[in-house]
Amino acid sequence: MDTWDTITSRRQVRSFTTDPIPADDLERILEAGRRAPSARNGQRWDFVVVSDNSQLARLSQTWQGAVWVAGSAATIALVMPTTAGDEALTDRFDLGQAAMQMMIAATGLGIASGQASCRDQALAREILGFPADKQCNLLIALGYAADRPLKPIQRPARRDFDDVVHFGSW
Ligand SMILES: Cc1cc2nc3c(=O)[nH]c(=O)nc-3n(C[C@H](O)[C@H](O)[C@H](O)COP(=O)(O)O)c2cc1C
Repeated sequence: MDTWDTITSRRQVRSFTTDPIPADDLERILEAGRRAPSARNGQRWDFVVVSDNSQLARLSQTWQGAVWVAGSAATIALVMPTTAGDEALTDRFDLGQAAMQMMIAATGLGIASGQASCRDQALAREILGFPADKQCNLLIALGYAADRPLKPIQRPARRDFDDVVHFGSW
């Protein structure tokens, strides 16, 4: 898939087949996240990969909007430091860039992704074992889309181009 088709084919998928993701593909997706840019090249992120079914089922309980994580082939938990102020803002931005880079890499491999917030930090820490000074900010569920294949979306549910884009001034 070329870059444009990959970008336009990515969509939020919440239902996956039971097919596993080949190890090489999963590694490629994680490597895409590792290569993401970050403020001052701080790379203040960790990625915890979960593919065990019972662990996935428990992880899906960290947020009511993440129940479908249980049916993913694998889920990547994105972990960042628990801090306040400007650092937290850049950490979240950096994490978002790593997340997008992983989802685009996945799409290019024909692997669907679905993001979910991770709210119950105590439960997430119990399942994933990350240190007390860190938090899980996002879950990226991965697998093969159960509904329809990934292909370029002609009319995405987005604000109009002219409403969003301002040339020269607002
Ligand atoms: C930071 C973030 C958190 C999200 N959390 C959830 C979530 O908890 N549950 C969910 O079903 N979708 C979640 N989404 C997915 C968005 O709802 C989805 O990306 C958006 O509706 C646009 O749809 P698309 O990804 O198919 O283009 C999240 C997206 C982002 C960026």
